[in-house]
Amino acid sequence: MARHLITSALPYINGVKHLGNLVGSMLPADVAARYLRAAGHEVLAICATDEHGTPAELAAAEAGIPVEQYCAEQYEVQRDLGERFGLSWDHFGRTSRPQNRALTEHFAARLCAQGFTAVRSTPQVYSIADGRFLPDRYVLGTCPNCGFERARGDQCEQCGKQLEPTELIGPRSAVSGSDQLEVRESAHVFMLQSALAPRIREWVDAQGDWPQLTRSIAEKWLDEGLQDRGITRDLSWGFPVDPEVFPEAAGKVFYVWFDAPIGYLGATREWADLVFDADAAQTEFDRWWRTDRGADDVTYTQFMGKDNVPFHTIGFPGTILGSGESWKLVDRLKSFNWLTYYGGKFSTSEHRGVFMSDALELLPADYWRWYLMSNAPESDDTTFTWQRFAEAVNKDLVATLGNFVNRTVTQVVRHFGEQVPEGGEPTDVEDEALAVARERLEEYLAHLDALEFRKATSALRSLWAEGNVYLERREPWRTVKEDRDRTACTLRTALVLAVVDAIAAAPFIPHTADRLGVCLLGPDPLGRDGRAAVLDTELVDRAVAAIRPGASIAPPGLLFEKVSDEQVAAWEDRFGGEPVEPDQPVTS
Ligand code: 2FM
Ligand code: ZN
Repeated sequence: MARHLITSALPYINGVKHLGNLVGSMLPADVAARYLRAAGHEVLAICATDEHGTPAELAAAEAGIPVEQYCAEQYEVQRDLGERFGLSWDHFGRTSRPQNRALTEHFAARLCAQGFTAVRSTPQVYSIADGRFLPDRYVLGTCPNCGFERARGDQCEQCGKQLEPTELIGPRSAVSGSDQLEVRESAHVFMLQSALAPRIREWVDAQGDWPQLTRSIAEKWLDEGLQDRGITRDLSWGFPVDPEVFPEAAGKVFYVWFDAPIGYLGATREWADLVFDADAAQTEFDRWWRTDRGADDVTYTQFMGKDNVPFHTIGFPGTILGSGESWKLVDRLKSFNWLTYYGGKFSTSEHRGVFMSDALELLPADYWRWYLMSNAPESDDTTFTWQRFAEAVNKDLVATLGNFVNRTVTQVVRHFGEQVPEGGEPTDVEDEALAVARERLEEYLAHLDALEFRKATSALRSLWAEGNVYLERREPWRTVKEDRDRTACTLRTALVLAVVDAIAAAPFIPHTADRLGVCLLGPDPLGRDGRAAVLDTELVDRAVAAIRPGASIAPPGLLFEKVSDEQVAAWEDRFGGEPVEPDQPVTS
């Protein structure tokens, strides 16, 4: 039994997440957590809402409520949706909680003590009408490069040029539209990434287990040379810097990207405080995060979209390494490309695409989980279309898994009643079917171990398909008239395969797997007594032992419903199903 810490990029608090957010972080993290638990490991799966920063402030202002209230409400919305999607976190926390504040202050103080911070005066845009400093992206104006009139102060969305707000022509506030802006000097804390660069590079070079996408992004940043990075902002919403540590920066708050990744630790500490008493909480927290206090045998895996990779390979490791303490660093960093919506961006602000709340209104979570993971943007961007969604559901879930289970159970009930058929002895044909299932299962587990989710879903699909191949070969609907024992053995073997299918599929489609398991194996089938449910290469043999002749079964009913052409048309109509211009920028 190994120990696995799993985190997914923390979703921003402002608004319900779309399917692109889900497939790039929270969902694969959940599949991995479920798989590792089922394989018998000790797993801690942590997530949280990422609550600081200007977007939260502005969203609250738009909703006309205090930002604390906005965050508290949205946290509940996101937690509820995550749970309904089957995200099996051990804890879903909040970056605004006191545990994270204490850790954020701790890391900032350590960086300071180790000589990796400096306070520097920087020019910032101040909006007189709004009575506040404006972050770069909240200054709008005309792009000096292409003339686009709604360019942001950090980057022009039309031509992609990186900008300084002072370069914009006719700058105005995105908050109020006011053009009464001026540049004021403001003191900020900087993390000296230039000084940390050799340590970060040494650590990056030592990582053997990173996928190519992750490694190439990290190396590009290192090769370009690391800049010192401001870790405070002129905002009111955020953790205030400790004036005793940084007197010149008193009144500033930490930048959201400084405290957000520390939120992985903060949320773990929340979990420990909830589950254990005060002394044990510290010990438990340390067991996951301090390599000098028990976390040296933890494998830590992070999941995120590619835009988050620099923060997790450079910024956050810089914080950890710069502390001079023995904190756990990531071992496996799985990053994803973009899921697009008809080739264009999913957009929270423009509500383009399908959001978690929309999805659950249409169909149960397992349909989405299967579609998303079997089309996960692993090696390239992938586009969502309703047609592709319908295809994944209809071919894989309905025609392959659902059809096999339905045919098997219908034949069993029709000819033998609601119990595992008795009689008949397995022959070479049965041995062969089980051997093929073992092979597919091994292939599947190897892909899951490698975090190759699309390959894993292909192997799982082949495993499911073997059930139908076996039924076609044995034709129980025909043999029942002439050889009842033969048919009993066929259907018993098919039930074994259905159990294997269910338990193997549980990381991807947990609700269906559980329902099928209960029907075929009785209460708590995927249960923690674990005998039938452990997901490893011995599963086929355990399933043979678990399907006992004469034991009761209950028909699960149809596992999945087909998505019809009419539904596709209606959803295209409702959500928009038009391809976008190919040169439209594609972002999260
Ligand atoms: O990109 C995002 O959605 C960020 N909220 C991810 C933060 S990950 C971690 F650092 F908290
Ligand atoms: Zn431009």
